[in-house]
Amino acid sequence: MHIPDDYELMDSGNGQKLERFGPVILARPCAQAVWEPRHPELWDSANASFDRKEGLNWHGRERLPEDWVVTVRGVRMRLSTTDFGHLGIFPETMDQWSWIASQLRDAAKSRSTAPRFLNLFAYSGGATLAAAKAGAQCCHLDASKGMVEWARANAVLNGLQNSGIRFIVDDVGGFLRREVRRGRNYECVLLDPPSFGRGKRGELYKIEKNVQETLNLVGQVLSDTPLFVILTSHTPGFSPIVLQNLLEQALGQGRLTCGEMLLRGGPDVLDLPSGNWARWQAT
Ligand SMILES: C[S@@+](CC[C@H](N)C(=O)[O-])C[C@H]1O[C@@H](n2cnc3c(N)ncnc32)[C@H](O)[C@@H]1O
Repeated sequence: MHIPDDYELMDSGNGQKLERFGPVILARPCAQAVWEPRHPELWDSANASFDRKEGLNWHGRERLPEDWVVTVRGVRMRLSTTDFGHLGIFPETMDQWSWIASQLRDAAKSRSTAPRFLNLFAYSGGATLAAAKAGAQCCHLDASKGMVEWARANAVLNGLQNSGIRFIVDDVGGFLRREVRRGRNYECVLLDPPSFGRGKRGELYKIEKNVQETLNLVGQVLSDTPLFVILTSHTPGFSPIVLQNLLEQALGQGRLTCGEMLLRGGPDVLDLPSGNWARWQAT
């Protein structure tokens, strides 16, 4: 069955991307779009734009709804513009949601209990909800109370309020260390560490300094019958092979794959690289 998406990359170029989120069309900065726009005629259709020319500025934000709901990959998500130019979704991660859901559906056929899925740095919950819909027992963790509330509201939008998702506001390192002590484990883990972030009590997280420790802890909470670990990143320098090497060092033997996360549109729209992914799968 084809489920139409409310997301579409319409064009990119001149350091910007033009995207449609349901009824809302936005132009936002995108440093890697170093080419000429392919569809210059489309850019006037933007309802609002964002730039970082003199501070962080929306133009036309007053024309947008305060919030609105889109359906992407079968998941309903509430969107709203933030002062940093974000919307509560990173559409380049949607291919990971679909892959996770298909792996979980396959696993359900051969396992007697639902796989446990841990989403770290989980933001507004797209991957958590895709996993919950595919039958996983989910644990959703983010240090930002506001983001966890947003993810909870998204769960309600999807009718998943009683699906047993554990929503946790905590620092990734502190949480994982406690899970190791409690002997809790997971078959599937997704982590999308920020270049730079803050834990619940202001703990500084820097990907280049902290990611190895995080992955070693992830290795300690993996169950004896693991399925997969996915590491994604938007940090410059964290190429697909860098992410894959990190997974191999922390988790050892496994099937390793990696690639670029892409924003995608119709057949005549250039794919837009937006970060990288690597996956470790139990062999
Ligand atoms: C890049 S976003 C993740 C995007 C999300 N995975 C997605 O695909 O939609 C990074 C998230 O990590 C959270 N974060 C940053 N530092 C953290 C820490 N030390 N512990 C837990 N969460 C943290 C932020 O609150 C933010 O929501």
